Amino acid sequence: MNEKQNIGSLFDRIAKTYDVLNHGLSLNIDRRWRRKAVASMQPARRVLDVAIGTADLTIEMLRQGKAVQVTGIDLSTEMMAIGEEKIIREKAKGRMDESAEVEFVYGNAQEMPYEEGSFDAVTCAFGCRNFADLDAGLREMHRVLRPGGQVVILEFSYPGNPIIRKMYDIYFSYILPFIGRIVSHDKTAYTYLNRSVKGFVWGEAFVQHLHDIGFVHEHFTPLTLGIATVYMARKKG
Ligand SMILES: C[S@@+](CC[C@H](N)C(=O)[O-])C[C@H]1O[C@@H](n2cnc3c(N)ncnc32)[C@H](O)[C@@H]1O
Repeated sequence: MNEKQNIGSLFDRIAKTYDVLNHGLSLNIDRRWRRKAVASMQPARRVLDVAIGTADLTIEMLRQGKAVQVTGIDLSTEMMAIGEEKIIREKAKGRMDESAEVEFVYGNAQEMPYEEGSFDAVTCAFGCRNFADLDAGLREMHRVLRPGGQVVILEFSYPGNPIIRKMYDIYFSYILPFIGRIVSHDKTAYTYLNRSVKGFVWGEAFVQHLHDIGFVHEHFTPLTLGIATVYMARKKG
């Protein structure tokens, strides 16, 4: 089994340290990226958060009042268990509406157990580059979306500026795997994360995949010098 087919167990292994490393290593910029991605979304009733992980994007959607019911699907039960605890804490602290409904479902983004047109919006933050077959995941997002519904995808990309790109390469090739290995006690997970970011399509090429799948009004916004990008599109209404 290759590493992308075994992705659930990889994330199970690093789940406990995922949030600390994510926010720490990005100096909290990842929070700003999720805030921006969610801010550009239209409010929707039923949202599917693909690769929900520890629920950071879902929490942001609920805080900003962009969703009422969220279904999260993921292949890592450990990541989702942490996400569930975070939702309970957020509600207890009054940072999100008590009536917000979040359901966590174990499943593969490339083969989702939902009828066609089940959701008003589909989101995915830092999940797509892990799919064994990107187009299969995008096709499923398109299928479960209602006509006219919106898809919002946040993913790492590649900075255009050569100096920033060099620093980015050093960071992803050496610093991230080194710190990741020490904090998570996992030898391979963060070298995989490095490879998954480097080999992934981004910008116009990613938008072309959305277009070929059948999405319309596809466009993208680079964030923080192009280190991450928000992609948005709709299902033809
Ligand atoms: C980098 S984390 C991102 C989690 C969360 N969306 C966030 O913004 O922090 C990637 C998540 O994608 C999940 N994942 C990867 N491939 C998947 C697939 N084919 N189907 C469902 N979930 C998947 C992993 O289990 C992991 O929880």
